[in-house]
Amino acid sequence: MSDPSQPVDLVILGGGSGGYAAALRAAELGMTVVMVEQDKVGGTCLHRGCIPTKALLHSAETVDIIKESAQFGVNASFESVDMAAVNAYKSKVVEGLFKGLTGLVKSRKIEVVQGHGRLVSPTAVEVDGRTIEAGHVLLATGSYARSIPGLEIDHDTVVTSDDVLSFEQIPRSVVILGAGAIGCEFASVWSSFGAEVTIVEALPHLVPLEEESSSKLLERAFRKRGIKTELGARFERVEHTADGLVVHLEGGKTVEAGLLLVAIGRGPVSADLGYEQIGVEMERGFVKVDAYCQTSIPTISAVGDLIPTLQLAHVGFGEGILVAERLAGLPVTPIDYDGVPRVTYSHPEVASVGLTSKVASDRGYDVVEATYDLAGNGKARILGTAGAVKVVAAKDGPVLGVHMVGERVGELIAEAQLITNWEALPAEVAQLIHPHPTMSEAVGEAHLALAGKPLHSHS
Ligand code: NAI
Repeated sequence: MSDPSQPVDLVILGGGSGGYAAALRAAELGMTVVMVEQDKVGGTCLHRGCIPTKALLHSAETVDIIKESAQFGVNASFESVDMAAVNAYKSKVVEGLFKGLTGLVKSRKIEVVQGHGRLVSPTAVEVDGRTIEAGHVLLATGSYARSIPGLEIDHDTVVTSDDVLSFEQIPRSVVILGAGAIGCEFASVWSSFGAEVTIVEALPHLVPLEEESSSKLLERAFRKRGIKTELGARFERVEHTADGLVVHLEGGKTVEAGLLLVAIGRGPVSADLGYEQIGVEMERGFVKVDAYCQTSIPTISAVGDLIPTLQLAHVGFGEGILVAERLAGLPVTPIDYDGVPRVTYSHPEVASVGLTSKVASDRGYDVVEATYDLAGNGKARILGTAGAVKVVAAKDGPVLGVHMVGERVGELIAEAQLITNWEALPAEVAQLIHPHPTMSEAVGEAHLALAGKPLHSHS
């Protein structure tokens, strides 16, 4: 433990992705660091988000593979999903990573203070009567699952993603409110597990912030899987009946189900933590920051879901590292948020980086694009997956965005990220020979097509 009478270099409020990344990097750069965490280091991503949900998705994928095994000439019959065993597997993954992270934090000599902290001055945080003074304070208190005014989460039949992670039963039928990443990922899991799923989304498409053609491909895939959708449909109210729930949509339509998962976005955890009292500028509950994650008070920074940037764990990591390096006096570059890859890990996956064709046009680019259908890709045929890779570029200029749908495309987006962020020209990418037969060839083929020399596709 650091000497409590001496200020440390950095005190961090919140030990999630943003907070712990800053702690690890700051310690690596020789700073003394105290990290305050009321629950477990690792935060939403490790304990209630990315990791446990991806474990659930892997169990779901296993079900799908067994059910589809006959198409690969393998006779296997699906018996059942043992939710207790699924949860044990999920917990084992989380616990293993948690142990590793705890060891890493300890090895960098970061002091973790367990408890509920509050900002009490521009240079101090208070936890259970102990005041931790620091040269700099980092706010990284994350986010919570939001609901709609008037829609009460009862944690039983009207639930959030936090509640469902500990479910020991597979719901028979479920309505999912919101078709963002959380809504589509849980729709995918539960559908594979045998539930009847209906997604209600206020906007006209699933994953509405994605390229429209990606949304449409996901809608087609979900339709084939028997997942029902109510698109452009606004939730009105939920009625509790003897048999379960009746979800009423605006316009009079109703959907019956046993469970309602509310996945309409996450709000910042910023209330009653002293932020406003100390004078930190806020906006709709988010902490306002500049391009270097500095708040309106120079000794206070903020990162992660608490600030109004993309709410993704890897963005939190990047912001945390940026703050640590800035405080250590290293040269830092603002994050280019357009260049951050985004993946929805449903079956099939949706992945993208850079601009959609619409945003590119709105920003004044003369847009050209090419779409490569996975039907022409050998590995995709072997896996039995449908989808596409679409490349959006400026006419006679660089690639602006890449948008993909299909199994395993989440693993392909890193190449697209390099292409987009290095502003490669389609013709330059077309020069790069991709390994055959892999899904990654589809990335190469889309660029070949855009460079005017399509190989396994029609011009
Ligand atoms: P989201 O903001 O991505 O999607 C919420 C959806 O709900 C929107 O499409 C919105 O139009 C819809 N909606 C809002 N009010 C509605 C209403 N009254 N009726 C019908 N639809 C309504 O939020 P989500 O999916 O809850 O995720 C929260 C955050 O966590 C996001 O920033 C997401 O990117 C992140 N996340 C990322 C994951 C990933 O990267 N794979 C996985 C899970 C979450």
